Amino acid sequence: MRPLAIIGGTGIDDLEGLEVLKEHCVQTPYGEPSRPIQEGRLGEHSLFFLQRHGSPGAIPPHRINYRANLWALKSMEVGAVVAINAVGGITESMRPGRLVIPHQVIDYTWGREHTFDEGQEDKLMHIDFTEPYERGLRMELLAAADSANIPHEASGVYGATQGPRLETSAEVQRMARDGCDVVGMTGMPEAALACELGLPYASVCMVVNPAAGLGDLPLTLAMMQDILLREAAVVRQLLNQLLRNR
Ligand code: HPA
Repeated sequence: MRPLAIIGGTGIDDLEGLEVLKEHCVQTPYGEPSRPIQEGRLGEHSLFFLQRHGSPGAIPPHRINYRANLWALKSMEVGAVVAINAVGGITESMRPGRLVIPHQVIDYTWGREHTFDEGQEDKLMHIDFTEPYERGLRMELLAAADSANIPHEASGVYGATQGPRLETSAEVQRMARDGCDVVGMTGMPEAALACELGLPYASVCMVVNPAAGLGDLPLTLAMMQDILLREAAVVRQLLNQLLRNR
């Protein structure tokens, strides 16, 4: 089985326990990825790790070179990609501290380099994106969460917004009407680019705040970071279990 790659989001700068054996500085036709890709071992398993915000986490969601990141991972011949995303919760059950394995996406981003199709190929890249997350990989994540007794939401619709600002309360209300359960800024075009490259891709979302207008407190980074720290430990537990089950 080809190794797994993890794309770390806010709060996951390194994979604790990963014995880094190599750092790959990959050049792609689209420029450089956010950071050199770490190749290493976690227990008995080979693993690749890329932090999408770079290091020390300074690249904002709308400036991330998603194409270079995915292309570079593909060139490492990884078998699948698990993305970690911090999100705001819209649906009542998606409270801060909750893990969500989303099953659908609604894309509200704009102006990002969102495809590898630059019109130079003979055929159009009308990829089938009916299911944005690969079913088998999602099932593996759900099984890992179950076997490690990690409370989670087994499905959810991820609304991807442009950022870097947070949403207005009216935008969140509209997203709720659209059927979004969580809101984040980095889920797209990442998922679609992985699909274009034929890379099985799924996401683990950490709810770090109630979405705008839904909580009692003003949204601050400090409040999100507090929860992120705690949830990042649970995500690591989940990833460890995922690897053990492989
Ligand atoms: N909105 C968008 N992105 C986010 C949020 C949010 O409330 N929380 C964490 N990432």
